[in-house]
Amino acid sequence: MKILVTGGAGFIGSHLVDRLLADGMQVVCIDNFDSFYDPRLKERNIAGPLKHRRFTLYRDDIRDLPAMEKIFKKHRPDALVHLAARAGVRPSIKDPLLYEDVNIKGTMNLLECAKKYGVKKTVFGSSSSVYGAREKIPFKEDELAQKPISPYAATKMAGELLCYTYHHLYKMPITCLRFFTVYGPRQRPEMGIHKFTREIVNGETVEFFGDGHSARDYTFVLDIVEGICAAIGKDLGYEIINLGDCNTVKLGYLIELIEKNAGKKAKIRKMPDQPGDVPITCASIDKAKKLLGYEPKVKIEKGIEEFAKWYKAQ
Ligand SMILES: NC(=O)c1ccc[n+]([C@@H]2O[C@H](COP(=O)([O-])OP(=O)(O)OC[C@H]3O[C@@H](n4cnc5c(N)ncnc54)[C@H](O)[C@@H]3O)[C@@H](O)[C@H]2O)c1
Repeated sequence: MKILVTGGAGFIGSHLVDRLLADGMQVVCIDNFDSFYDPRLKERNIAGPLKHRRFTLYRDDIRDLPAMEKIFKKHRPDALVHLAARAGVRPSIKDPLLYEDVNIKGTMNLLECAKKYGVKKTVFGSSSSVYGAREKIPFKEDELAQKPISPYAATKMAGELLCYTYHHLYKMPITCLRFFTVYGPRQRPEMGIHKFTREIVNGETVEFFGDGHSARDYTFVLDIVEGICAAIGKDLGYEIINLGDCNTVKLGYLIELIEKNAGKKAKIRKMPDQPGDVPITCASIDKAKKLLGYEPKVKIEKGIEEFAKWYKAQ
C-alpha cells in the first residue's frame, strides 16, 4: 500500500512515517520544512526514513497546486494522510491570513488531487480546538454549534467542512480525526510540555497562564499514530472522530510531573488567561473505540517520563 503523508517531517507526521515504514508500507512525504519552528528539528525527525528505500520525500508547499498534481500523478497513492498545517492557536491570532492560506487553500489543493487521482482513503488531521470554549465535558463529535475561538481553530473547522463537501460530491471516504493536545518525543518546541521542560531545565521563568485550573486532555503521540493507522485501513464514509486520552490534567499537576522528571523546581510567573486559549478539553472517545478499536495506552505520568528521556538525550 502506498501512503502519502503531508507534514511528514513534523512532530506527529514523522512518528506516523516511522510506523508506516515499520508496517511495510510505501511512504511518500510532502513537507516544505516551514519556519514555524527550527527546520533542523524536522530534518532530524526525518533522517531515519530518508535512508529507507520505501520512502520518498518532496520538499514542496501544499499551496502549490501544480507541484501537488505532479506528485499525485507520479505516485498514485492509495491513501492520503493530511497533517501539513500551520499549527498553534496564539500565533494564528497574529497572522490569520497565513493560516487561512496554508490550512484552507492547502487542504483544498490536496482534496482536489485526491479526487482527480482516485485516492481510496483520506484522513484529515483536525483538532479539538474546533469545539471552542466549553465547560461541558467530555466533548462529543455530534455536538452542534461548535464555536472556534481562534483563526487556527476556524481553519481546522473549515478543513472538516471541505472534507465533507468532497465526500458528498465525489463519494470519497474521508475521516477527520480531532487530535487532543498531542505530546511525546519530538513535540513542537512551542507546545506546553516541551516549553515548560526547557524553561525548568534552564532555570528560566515559566509563565503560568490562568489560575492553574485550566485543564487539557493530553494524548501521547504513539496513541494518536495508532488511531491514524486504524483510520487509514477503514472505509467509514465520512466521519469525524476524536482521538484523545479521555482524561483531563490540570496545568498545576502537569508542572509537578515535569518538575519531578527534570529534578528541578519551576520558577513560576502567574499570567492572565490568553485570548484564544480554551479553559478545558476532554475527549469522548466512545466513537473512536467503536469505529477504530482505539484504546489509548500511555497515561500522562508515563508519557511525561518518555518525553523527559527523549529531551535529555537531545
Ligand atoms: N500537536 C498537536 O497537539 C495537535 C493537536 C491538534 C491537531 N494537530 C494537527 O496535527 C497536524 C500535525 O501537527 P504537529 O504538531 O505535528 O505540527 P508540526 O508543525 O510539527 O507538523 C506540521 C508539518 O507541516 C509542514 N508544513 C507546514 N506548512 C506546510 C506547507 N505549506 N506545505 C508543506 N508542508 C507544510 C511543517 O513543515 C511541519 O513539518 C497539524 O495539522 C495540526 O494542526 C496537532
